Amino acid sequence: MLSPIIQAFIQKETDSIDNLLPIAFCRRNTAIHVIELYRLAKILQEISSEEIQVLQALEELVHRFEYIPLEEVATKLSLDEDDILFLLGKLNKIRLVQRKKEHYLGYRISRAGYDALALHDLAQKDVIVSLGQPYGVGKEATVYSSLDANGKEVAVKFLRWGQTSFKRIRRLRKLKDEPIHSWIAFSKRAAKREFGVLRILYDIGGKVPQPIALNRHVIVMSQMTGDLLLQISELEHPHNVLEQILQQVQLAYQKAKLVHGDLSEYNIFVDENEQVTIFDWPQWQPLSHPNSMWLLKRDLSHILTFFKRRFSIMYDVDETLKRVTAPKQGKKKND
Ligand SMILES: Nc1ncnc2c1ncn2[C@@H]1O[C@H](COP(=O)(O)OP(=O)(O)O)[C@@H](O)[C@H]1O
Ligand SMILES: [Mg+2]
Repeated sequence: MLSPIIQAFIQKETDSIDNLLPIAFCRRNTAIHVIELYRLAKILQEISSEEIQVLQALEELVHRFEYIPLEEVATKLSLDEDDILFLLGKLNKIRLVQRKKEHYLGYRISRAGYDALALHDLAQKDVIVSLGQPYGVGKEATVYSSLDANGKEVAVKFLRWGQTSFKRIRRLRKLKDEPIHSWIAFSKRAAKREFGVLRILYDIGGKVPQPIALNRHVIVMSQMTGDLLLQISELEHPHNVLEQILQQVQLAYQKAKLVHGDLSEYNIFVDENEQVTIFDWPQWQPLSHPNSMWLLKRDLSHILTFFKRRFSIMYDVDETLKRVTAPKQGKKKND
């Protein structure tokens, strides 16, 4: 009954929480998310299948009500209202659901509840069997190192998109709570977009993490090795590294007909053999998008500015743009 992810989670918990909190670069949101996930470990260890079903019902009804009336949940699950009330009470206590009583008694799934559902499914499907320390702290996501069923290290990315846009929505509508259905929709959409593009690019030989699984707002992918380009001060062959990056931009443009949209030294890894991996793709756009050329030029400017500053390599942006988009050059990667 106990899924292995939870076991490993629990084993790691004691030292991990202590280790993680003081990490200087840990932003407040990330720290909270990390603690929250370790808290989920304990919860998931004891959660019953009925409780999971209640969470799934709340997830399905999320588009229809901000807070779902008790009767709706009971009808959806064909269960007695008293039983549902008991289960919802329990879930509310452990903060997997939120409760509101104004004109009626209603419940909604919380972010933690949504994380719990994704983790639960990934563990049930044996995609990941343990979850470890966070690798990295990004703008809109937290990425954890994890183990798959064969003991191989993989990366698990929780997308938490739209936090800034929610602040705006909240202010505009004078809302105290953030609309959970929008948060779910945004994060799920971002994960789906990223996973989809990783598949396309990986299949055509792109240097991107291998996509392994998608569940709700969570992506499982192969682990990258090396360092963030940003953190690299010396390269043996900086020209070659830059050319590899440009080749990837070209491959995406010529073969997949898309642009990254958020390319910079923050979203490129370089391994010990000076091979690049391009990651963090949820903002990609197809070439048919009206801003795609503008985005491509911005992507290239970020990279060229970085190489100019750090490695004194001067490439002209317009020339490079021409080179990357010139029809014939795409042939090289074809096999
Ligand atoms: N596949 C991976 N393997 C190892 N580390 C990763 C992987 N994907 C992301 N990371 C780490 O997580 C950090 C944040 O990931 P990223 O995809 O850039 O999210 P964000 O949108 O938050 O910037 C990265 O800077 C990197 O250190
Ligand atoms: Mg990033």
